[in-house]
Amino acid sequence: MLILGCPTQGMRQTPAMQSFITSIPRELLSGLSVVCFDTRFRGGFWKISAAPSMAKQLHTMGVGLLVPPESFFVKSMKKEGPLLAGELERAASWAHMLSEKIAVHPLAVKS
Ligand SMILES: Cc1cc2nc3c(=O)[nH]c(=O)nc-3n(C[C@H](O)[C@H](O)[C@H](O)COP(=O)(O)O)c2cc1C
Repeated sequence: MLILGCPTQGMRQTPAMQSFITSIPRELLSGLSVVCFDTRFRGGFWKISAAPSMAKQLHTMGVGLLVPPESFFVKSMKKEGPLLAGELERAASWAHMLSEKIAVHPLAVKS
């Protein structure tokens, strides 16, 4: 699984993330489960964020996501983090859900 996460800046992914996605060799992406998340400010005006933009970029490379893009919210627009109360737990549940989605269950063997 490839999990791509990025802060939202200017309503999209950072230039560094954009370059990173472009640089991923296509053969590595084939057959890989890919998911995207961003961090962003929760405010009325700020509805567009990095993860959907990353999803669009991946889509143009022929890569679909395992689950829809997700956002986790920070307290302030102007500085790094911290996450809003409850967001760390929500992120942990999201990661757990992903691990369950890709879990490989042993095959039942008939005797
Ligand atoms: C230059 C800059 C631009 C930003 N643009 C946005 C934005 O368009 N939408 C938004 O919701 N948050 C925006 N933010 C807030 C960041 O998304 C937030 O600070 C970041 O997600 C925190 O994560 P970090 O601690 O990993 O940097 C911006 C922050 C900076 C510094």
